[in-house]
Amino acid sequence: MNFWLPLLLATAVLALLLYWLFITTEGVYLGRRVVVWLYDITAHKYDGIKEFDPDAEQFFLIRPLLVRLRRVPNPLVLDVATGTGRLPGFLLDAPTFNGRVVGLDASEKMLQLAGEKLRPYGHRASLVQQVADRLPFPHDQFDLVTCLEALEFFPSDTAALREMVRVLKPGGTLLVTRRKGSEAKLFVGRYRNVAQFEAVLTELGLEEVHTNPWQMDYDQVFGKKPG
Ligand SMILES: C[S@@+](CC[C@H](N)C(=O)[O-])C[C@H]1O[C@@H](n2cnc3c(N)ncnc32)[C@H](O)[C@@H]1O
Repeated sequence: MNFWLPLLLATAVLALLLYWLFITTEGVYLGRRVVVWLYDITAHKYDGIKEFDPDAEQFFLIRPLLVRLRRVPNPLVLDVATGTGRLPGFLLDAPTFNGRVVGLDASEKMLQLAGEKLRPYGHRASLVQQVADRLPFPHDQFDLVTCLEALEFFPSDTAALREMVRVLKPGGTLLVTRRKGSEAKLFVGRYRNVAQFEAVLTELGLEEVHTNPWQMDYDQVFGKKPG
């Protein structure tokens, strides 16, 4: 009895630690390679787990973006950490969107699935395999830069945000998401409340920074590059 109890406790603690490291925080405390590897091996399940509702995506995600793009003739959009092409797919589906979308992600398998989804849109969609804190684009390139449900998995959210602001055109819009909800504070040392998150975007030079409640686990946070 004296021997089994500590062993059971140690096993339970180890199991919880592994669950936190690999499932809750998706490998972020083990480095970028682990995060990307986890997405590579689970990519085939992603859309099935997420079950995106096309009507909700159009109403709560795409419509606010189209309002911001309404005066831009042929918008060029960058979606960082595009995954299986959620945002490019729904944006290109919108009849009033006549621009092009570049999707960037570090996971080869997620991009393969995005490629299949976006094939019908031909040259209006393109995909790049790269990490978010080294965007392979010149300054001031995109009318809109988005990054959904991903910042908390990057080695440094600030470094990636700085890159997104760099490639955004003056006057362009940034839309990113802030993790919230019951698991958000388990991202120890990485969690930011609304004020802290908005302060990061303001310090990076954005104006009109504001937060819209969106899903249970994510807020949408908008900002505009001055100019
Ligand atoms: C939860 S998914 C979100 C995908 C998509 N934005 C969506 O809303 O469905 C997170 C994505 O971030 C990507 N990712 C994680 N770390 C990355 C990094 N350092 N650079 C680029 N992409 C990364 C993963 O490969 C994955 O596709």
